[in-house]
Amino acid sequence: MKIPDNLVFVLFGASGDLAFRKIIPAIYSLKIHLLLPEKFEIIGVSRSVMSDLDFREKLKKGITSFSGEQNITDELLISFTNHITYLTLDISSPSEYVKLRDKLAETDINSGTGGNYIFYLATPPSLYTIIAGSLSSIGLSDQSVGFRRFIFEKPFGYDLKSCKELNKKLHDLFAEEQIFRIDHYLGKETVQNLLVTRFSNGMFEPLWNRNYINYIEITSAESIGVESRGGYYDKAGALRDMVQNHLLQMVGLTAMEPPSSMNPDAIRNEILKVFQSFQPIVEDEVDKYVIRGQYTASRVRGECLTGYRYEKGVDPNSRTETFVAIKFYINNWRWGGVPFYIRTGKRLPTRVTEIVIHFKPTPHFLFHVNDIDRSANQLIIRIQPDEGILLKFGMKEPGAGFNVKNVSMDFHYSELANIRLPEAYERLLNDVMVGDSTLYSRDDTVETAWKFLEPIQNGWSNNPAIKVFGYPCGTWGPETANDLIEGKDLTWRYPCKNLADDGLYCEL
Ligand SMILES: NC(=O)c1ccc[n+]([C@@H]2O[C@H](COP(=O)([O-])OP(=O)(O)OC[C@H]3O[C@@H](n4cnc5c(N)ncnc54)[C@H](OP(=O)(O)O)[C@@H]3O)[C@@H](O)[C@H]2O)c1
Repeated sequence: MKIPDNLVFVLFGASGDLAFRKIIPAIYSLKIHLLLPEKFEIIGVSRSVMSDLDFREKLKKGITSFSGEQNITDELLISFTNHITYLTLDISSPSEYVKLRDKLAETDINSGTGGNYIFYLATPPSLYTIIAGSLSSIGLSDQSVGFRRFIFEKPFGYDLKSCKELNKKLHDLFAEEQIFRIDHYLGKETVQNLLVTRFSNGMFEPLWNRNYINYIEITSAESIGVESRGGYYDKAGALRDMVQNHLLQMVGLTAMEPPSSMNPDAIRNEILKVFQSFQPIVEDEVDKYVIRGQYTASRVRGECLTGYRYEKGVDPNSRTETFVAIKFYINNWRWGGVPFYIRTGKRLPTRVTEIVIHFKPTPHFLFHVNDIDRSANQLIIRIQPDEGILLKFGMKEPGAGFNVKNVSMDFHYSELANIRLPEAYERLLNDVMVGDSTLYSRDDTVETAWKFLEPIQNGWSNNPAIKVFGYPCGTWGPETANDLIEGKDLTWRYPCKNLADDGLYCEL
């Protein structure tokens, strides 16, 4: 990572959860690792009334609780937060933005930050166009004095139509190079390592195609429920919250052709081509290719967990999915006929994100194998937690005969001594500060991802006969999700077993 030029970082939504848990702790880490410029100021902006001092005290608590840094001392916290100020502003009122312009001008004079500004929009998405329009109307998008960059949190749009409208409105105000659509999965070391695994090793890439790969599955499981975000989640659901961005980006990196260089557009062009090659799922066949589910109450390790419909902020008749599994194909030369399966859910047995490459079995079994060990080679790329790579293959069981046993070769990132894995937000914030958009989503990829999901969204809203399957908290989602997997005896990979103590699978 590089040291950026001097700048002011304006954080809209500064009193919010994301700022508290992720953004400010990540910037603190950049400071500890000497990756902030010499002159660097943060201005937090939100509606709550707070003094600079109150705001700093709040952020210190956030850093202490959520930063993965070992190095947190009172002295360092004070020297970091001394460069943070707070501005109370009603973001929905364009006339108030002059207060921000004046504060920025004052900060530049007092701190020598040189007119470079980054604006992070960690607010409800409904405010994005108001913020963008208000900043632009008072000259704060004009790059003649310094760079002006804008980071947009997910969700970027609600569906294809709203995404296109948002892109259009932003393009009327800013150049695409000024727009950074954040997808924090792309900031994860192991996600980036996919490119290195594939394109720096001679042994994987020759096998990375329909001739040797049977199917690919990508799972992103969470053990938590919606927690305090029920109101937001009930309007979003797993498809918008996880699939449109994180899961499809992982599909893009897994399936893309080698880029011509590591230039941001070279990589994003290849991801776009993958998205453009998705075989559309037609609205009438949504239930054949997509399973949605909702967690129901159950007891996990003795603890009673609430069903989704009883969570705070959730409509008691909600049909919003907390689990989704999709089967689809990529219609291109490399992947023709290879099924891709993706699934994500809340209240599953554990928190894990992994990509599993299932290789084709050998054409003829010479040796004795039991049913479990008969499964073919798998390459498992663990994105989180315990980042690493696991290769499963068959070995001879010691002793008489030729019995085959599946064994694992397991690499853990944590075994790389003295290497610290930066947090995703840390890497992404450094990137935007130095103007590198490689790991940010481009307008066309976001739109193409929404386009792929549009028939699913339409099918769910237009056809009430498409079921929402219940699944007890602590299980791997509706059992019917297994039916998606093509092939005798094939199932999803289950990194651990179901944890629900009781509770039957039920249909809502
Ligand atoms: N939290 C997460 O883990 C997470 C993860 C990924 C993406 N995101 C995205 O990040 C964004 C922020 O999420 P969050 O969880 O931090 O939300 P949040 O806790 O509800 O915070 C929202 C922030 O927006 C401010 N705000 C809302 N209306 C305002 C107005 N009219 N004027 C000024 N400030 C206003 C709030 O200020 P006041 O409270 O002072 O009114 C608060 O600081 C959302 O787009 C969300 O989808 C969040």
